[in-house]
Order: sequence, then C-alpha cells, then structure tokens
Amino acid sequence: MAEPNHMSLELPGAQNGAHPSSENGTAPALPDEGRRYAQIIGWGYAVPEKVITNQDLEQIVETSDEWIRTRTGIEERRVAADPKETTATLATTAARRALEVADLHPSKLDLIICSTSSPEHIFPSTASIVQDAIGAVNAGAFDLSAACSGFVYALSMARGHILAGDAEYVLVLGAETLSRVVDWTDRNTCVLFGDGAGAVLIAASQVPGGIIATELGSDGSGADLLTIPAGGSAMPASLETVSSGNHFIKMDGKAVFRFATRVMADATKSVLERAGLTPEDVDLVIPHQANLRIVQNSVLKQLKVPEDKVFVNLQKYGNTSTASIPIALCEAIQAGKVKPGDKLVFVGFGAGLTWAACAIQWSVPTEAAATDWWKNTRRQAGYQAAAARSMWRRAVRWVYHVWPTDPESGALPGDEGIKEPETAVNGVRHSEE
Ligand code: UT7
Repeated sequence: MAEPNHMSLELPGAQNGAHPSSENGTAPALPDEGRRYAQIIGWGYAVPEKVITNQDLEQIVETSDEWIRTRTGIEERRVAADPKETTATLATTAARRALEVADLHPSKLDLIICSTSSPEHIFPSTASIVQDAIGAVNAGAFDLSAACSGFVYALSMARGHILAGDAEYVLVLGAETLSRVVDWTDRNTCVLFGDGAGAVLIAASQVPGGIIATELGSDGSGADLLTIPAGGSAMPASLETVSSGNHFIKMDGKAVFRFATRVMADATKSVLERAGLTPEDVDLVIPHQANLRIVQNSVLKQLKVPEDKVFVNLQKYGNTSTASIPIALCEAIQAGKVKPGDKLVFVGFGAGLTWAACAIQWSVPTEAAATDWWKNTRRQAGYQAAAARSMWRRAVRWVYHVWPTDPESGALPGDEGIKEPETAVNGVRHSEE
C-alpha cells in the first residue's frame, strides 16, 4: 500500500484536521466565504494473501491459462481463503491505511460509504461494521449497491455531501469477497473475479480541484445480464434456490462486454465535457479492471488515450468489482504515476446495468513520508480501544436484555464517557475541539 504521507492541504477552518464549528449553530464560516472542493487526502487497499493462478484454475474447471490470458488479460487473482477474512475485514484494513496516509483520527469522520455487492449481510450494512471496527464514533454509515460502478457512485455521493456543507470528511470504501458468491464450477465466471478492498478519504477543502465532475448512468433493462438471482425479495432463499445454484453470479458475458466497451468510452467523454477537459488533457485513466480487451476497445481505441496513460493491474487481481478502481489508484500512486496537478479519470461499468465516471484534479502530494513510531502506536491503541468499546457496548446491551431497566431511556451506561461533546452544524454532528 501507499506509504503514510503528511498532507499540506489546508482545510477550511480546520487547521490540523480540526472540524469547523460555529458558536451560533449556523453554517461553518469559510475564510473566503466561497467554494468548497472535495479532495482525496488518503488512500489504502487490502487484498487477501491467497493467490489463485490460471494454472490453479485449470485443475478446477475446463479452462486454460492461454484462454484466460488472451480473452481477459488476467493471470492471477486473490481469494479470501480464511473464513474469518470477509468484506468488512478487508474494508477495515483499507480504511485504516487511508486514515494513516491522511493522518486523520477516525472520530473526525462524518460519513462512511461502503460500495459492495458481497456485503457481510443484507443488513446491517458493512459500512456500519467498519465504522465500529475503526472507532468512527461520529460517523453515519451506509452501503451502496451499484455493482462494479459502485465506487465511483460513492465518490459522487461523498462529493455531494461535502459540497453541500453536510460533511467535512467522508470515507469511501469499495470492498468485495466475490469468491464467496462465485460458482466455482462455472468457467464463464469463476476465472474472472477476485477479492479485495480499497478506500479513499475525501475532505472538504478550499484548494480548487479534487473531484471536479461526475457522470452516473443506469439501464435496468439489462438487469438480468449480470445478477445473483436469489436471496432477495424476488426469490427468497429456499432449499430449491440453494440446490439450483441461484445464489451464485450468473452472467451473459458477451452482452456485458458489448455494453461495457460502449459505455466506458461514452461515460469518459461525458465526464470530461462536464469538467471542461478533453481526452488530451488527461494524465491518467483508471478504468474498472474487468477485462483488458474492454479497456483496449474503449479507452485506448475509441478515445485514443495512449497506453502509458491508462493504468491496468487486472493481471494480478482479476475483476475485484467495486474495489478495482481504488486498488488500482493505490498501485498507480505507488508506481509514481499520480502527481499534484494531474488530471485523472475513473470510469466503471457493471451490473444494473450501471456506469459511472469521475474527473479528478489531484491536489495532494503522493510521495511517502516517514511516520512517527508513536503515531503508529497511538493509532493501534485507538483501534484496540474501539474494539474494547464495541465489546463493552455489546456487554451492556446483554445486561439490559436479561435485566430490563427504564425503557424511557435509550442511553447505554458509559455513553457519556465515550461520546465526544457535539454541536449541530447544518444538521451534521461535529465534535468540538
Ligand atoms: O464487472 C463486470 C463483470 N463482467 C464482465 O466484465 C464480463 C464482460 N465479458 C467478458 O469479459 C467476456 O465476454 C468473457 C471473458 C466473459 C468471455 O469472453 P468472450 O470472448 O466473450 O468468450 P465467449 O463467451 O464468446 O466464449 C467463447 C468460447 C465459448 O466456447 P464455444 O461456445 O465457442 O465453443 C465458451 O464456452 O470460450 C468458451 N469459454 C471458455 N473456454 C475456456 C468461456 N469461458 C471459458 C473459459 N475457459 N474460462
């Protein structure tokens, strides 16, 4: 992952990461009374250790390394082999790394959005589980479902919250363990997908740039082209849905391929137009890492973006769905391909059908800076404290359950000691510094 880095980004009314607050409860006073921008100030990713190569897959289904390489570009993928490794644990690791890069305390987060198609449960949200694990005691949290386009959808939501003045810091996660919902006897799909998670931390800033434009789209008439048919209200889980394999991914690969090559190019064009840019202005395109041929037929051929301006790492991870763009972003940063002033495009497509693109003017330094050992120690202690806090609250709830008390009061003992004092600003809770 990207090494820790100290940001020089000046945040509105929030020197050293402090929240803006206002004594009379009105909107935070911005020094230039002007525009807010949504800047990416932290990033991180996590992938399982277990590598499954194309040769490994030759032992499982009737396929070949040659077919997978030439038809997709994929050479290997990561799979969460340990049952304890889940979408939330991968997302939590990625989130902690993003917070570390930005040197931000989790209690400063206002919102956590987790895009995923392989959540821990239908509910509660995976985002809430991550919120608890990182100790983001002041953050709202929800999951977002837009399949492989979800991460860019989530960036768009985060930007909207920030530009509206409803949040100062938003953590955006893209996390998947698709290996748990792939049919390992279906060669049409099992060779494609992999597990992983990526995170970016978005902050309100007065520095112009950041996420400058977004483009979202959907065509539900193609809903059946890529789907997990069972487990929802249309086909609730039953013995029959399990025995017929309807809880696994089903895909019409050819139709999705055709759709993808068209929308990747169209969405990129639209978002660049909104941002007032042309393909020539773009320093780096980070496409959804599904299939090398889709990237070649859309971004390279149709938009004529040169190969060295398109970041591809799908050979190592396969298609990690909504996690693919943030993982690729982290690796692009690691490879020195992202610098302040650069113009980036993220573009994705997926089930829904959906598509999404965003244009970004990168504004923060990306080179690694040494972290103080004591900061690392403090951070680790913070996560231990978050785990202890979570256990304490569960224990107290259990006591309440077996020993009912005053139903009028919803507060748990210890709440006063845990929560930071708060003020309401624009309907968003802010901690007082
Ligand atoms: O995040 C979004 C997720 N979805 C996607 O990105 C999927 C987009 N689609 C694709 O990437 C491609 O359509 C695939 C990689 C899924 C398939 O490539 P294709 O070139 O469209 O192959 P095809 O489906 O037309 O299949 C060609 C042949 C078929 O055999 P026949 O009927 O010609 O004898 C398939 O049965 O390849 C066969 N085939 C395989 N052979 C070896 C399909 N999968 C495999 C396999 N190994 N894994």
